[in-house]
Order: sequence, then structure tokens, then C-alpha cells
Amino acid sequence: MRVPLASSGLRKSDIDAVIRVLESGNLTMGREVKNFERKMSSYLEVKHFIMVNSGSSANLLMIEGLMRPAVARPRLNPGDSVLVPAIAWPTTIWPLIQLGLNPLFVDVDPTNLAIDLKAAQDLINTSKIPVKGILPIHPLGYAISPKLLSDFVEVNDLLLINDVCESLGSWREGKHAGTTGIASSFSFYFSHHITTMEGGGIATNDDHLADDLRSMRSHGWSRDRTDVANWSDGLSTNDSKFLFVSTGYNVRPMEIQAAIGSLQIDEIDAFVTKRRKIASRVTKVLANSSLSVIGSETITEESHSDSHSWMLIPIQVNGPDAESRKSRILKELEAREIETRPVLTGNFLAQPAIQRITRHSISPDSYPSATYIANTTFLIGAHHDLSDEQIEYLCETLSEICLL
Ligand SMILES: Cc1ncc(COP(=O)(O)O)c(C=O)c1O
Repeated sequence: MRVPLASSGLRKSDIDAVIRVLESGNLTMGREVKNFERKMSSYLEVKHFIMVNSGSSANLLMIEGLMRPAVARPRLNPGDSVLVPAIAWPTTIWPLIQLGLNPLFVDVDPTNLAIDLKAAQDLINTSKIPVKGILPIHPLGYAISPKLLSDFVEVNDLLLINDVCESLGSWREGKHAGTTGIASSFSFYFSHHITTMEGGGIATNDDHLADDLRSMRSHGWSRDRTDVANWSDGLSTNDSKFLFVSTGYNVRPMEIQAAIGSLQIDEIDAFVTKRRKIASRVTKVLANSSLSVIGSETITEESHSDSHSWMLIPIQVNGPDAESRKSRILKELEAREIETRPVLTGNFLAQPAIQRITRHSISPDSYPSATYIANTTFLIGAHHDLSDEQIEYLCETLSEICLL
């Protein structure tokens, strides 16, 4: 029996909605996108949600919106340094580099895989370069404490920008993951908590930033902005449709994606509950073995205000021969058709692209926790579409292979 990392996540109702939209003839960004954005901002309890075609585009726009605003002052300028975790997704980091910022890598906390705020503080204290912002990833369904993040950015006078692409549906201290700070990015790629097939978006409470993101999503034009009238004052109607007020791309989502998203977000609590049950079962199976689930301490927290949404389940192999045992375990899982993958990119500093771009000046060895996680930890699926039989088979197999 195959236990995949993810499933398409599409139900019959989603496919019916796609057909309805296709038959309506309204295909490009319109009413369905607006409706989904309304639902997302209401769910996340933020003022604005701007849907785009992927989580990667959400990161790109979020950074560009902070650097090249049409009205307000830039919050980040070329050359500014931004703290990022050493275990990262490439498109969390590339927008910083593409837009002339300086990513300052910080090791991760091995107990939760998020940026280590103590190491970040040490870096600020010893760094000669002034640091302007922090871009933490809320990893794999784990929400970083908003209190810890707020205290950290307040003490160091930093801009807080959140990558929540892996953690929709997770909560901490009564807040949705990553919703404090200036803006947060989300992904709806098919393996995530809800799917729009491909898709993403940005949450923010900042009115000017929201307008800039709406412009940048669509070529830089003014027409989707709430302050559109200010720009088109004195122009003919025809001119105002082609008034460009910011840099831009075309990273618009399609109506079919938003129609699916609107149905999926209604089910988010059920999806996350199922994912938590799978993580809980796996944790129980591995208890008292040399394998452990990173983040499992959150499982006992029943309250909605502190909930882990388990995009995938990180399993750590412990003990002195952890690296060689991990290889044996992965081979065995593969043989038994249980899909696994590395923890994001592993230590991102060890990837050829970042090594080339930083001209090999940053050694991956400076991030021992990221290296340790990359060498000893792997991910298995926790998708809400896994059947009871698949979960049973997964648990039985894990109980056998943890003895390897
Ligand atoms: C932390 C993080 N940021 C950004 C992304 C990019 O999202 P997308 O695949 O929708 O472009 C991902 C992808 O899963 C991710 O894990």
C-alpha cells in the first residue's frame, strides 16, 4: 500500500466548482478571487488578503511591496540586512537577493526547526552590519510564538515579515501563525493545508502595502487599488485603466483557483484535526524508540489557541549512529512504498545555488543544527486525505522500522 507525501486534495465539490466557473466564461481574476480574499482575511483575522499565483510570488511581492511602495516610505532599502533561517525554502531567500537585500542566515532551533532567536540575537550583538528585518519561516505547521517574535523585533527595532507558506491553520497564543508583523505569505500548493492547485497570497493589516501588492500583482497598474480615484483624478476613464503606479509582474491567480480555495478554506478545521490525529498516532507509535517526532510536545495542547497544523511530520533518528540508521530506514520505507523527503532544502547554505551566489564565502558548517537536522531527520506525509488503512499501514511499518 502506498503512503504518499501528499494527495491532490481535490474533492468532487471542488471539481464541480471549476466546471461552473469555466462554463461561466469568467476565467481571469474577478469575483471568485475577491470572494476568496474576503474569506481568507476573515479566517486569518487580518484586514487584507491579496491572492497570487503561488507562495513564491507572495514572497516576491511582499518584499518588493516593502521596498518600492507607491505612496508610503520604503521600509527596506537595497543593502539592508534581513535575518533568515538556515533551513529555508529557496523562494523565501531569492526575493531578498533579487531585490538587493542581504540575507543574514541564522541557525535553526533543532527542537522546532524554526529560526533560533538566541542565535539571531548573538548575531545582531556581534555583527557590524546593521540589521533591518527578520523573515522567519513558520516551519511545517509549527507556529513560532508571536510573543517571542514581538519582543525580539521590539528590542532590536526590526521589521517582522513572516513566511507562513507551510503553516496555514496553526495557532499560537490565540493568534494565527505569523499574523503579527507587517505581512505574511501563504501557499496553497496541492500538498499544503488547503489547495488551489497552485496558489498563494499575502495577509497584511497595512492599507498602503495592500494597495501596492494589488498593483504589483497586475503589471503595476492602479485599477485594483482602493485609492484608485486619487491617481486618476483629472484623467479620462480610458486613461485611468492604463495608469501604472508601481513596479509589477503578472502573478494573478485564476478564477478556478479561487473557487476551489473558497470551498477548501471552509474545511480547514477538519483538515487540520485529521492531520493532528495522524501526527498523534505516529508520535505514540515511536514513543520509547530511538526515533522521535519534532514538534510532538504540541500534540498534548488541545486548545485551539495553540495548535500545530502538521504540513508533514518530521521524524528524527537519535543516537550515535543516527546518520547511517537514517539511510537504512529511508531505504526500507521506500521499499514499503512510504514516501519520504528531506526537511525543506536541508541546510540551505550547502545547496549549490546559494554557495555559488555567496561565492562560497559562507560555510554550511557554521550552521551545525541545520546540518544535524539535514543528516538525521526526514519527513513523512500527514495529508488529511490519507485513509484509515493507509494510516494503519504507516503506523505498523513505523513500529517495525524503528527497531532497525
Ligand atoms: C517556506 C516556504 N516558502 C515558500 C514556498 C513556496 O510556495 P509555492 O510552492 O506555492 O510557490 C514554500 C513551498 O512549499 C515553502 O515551503
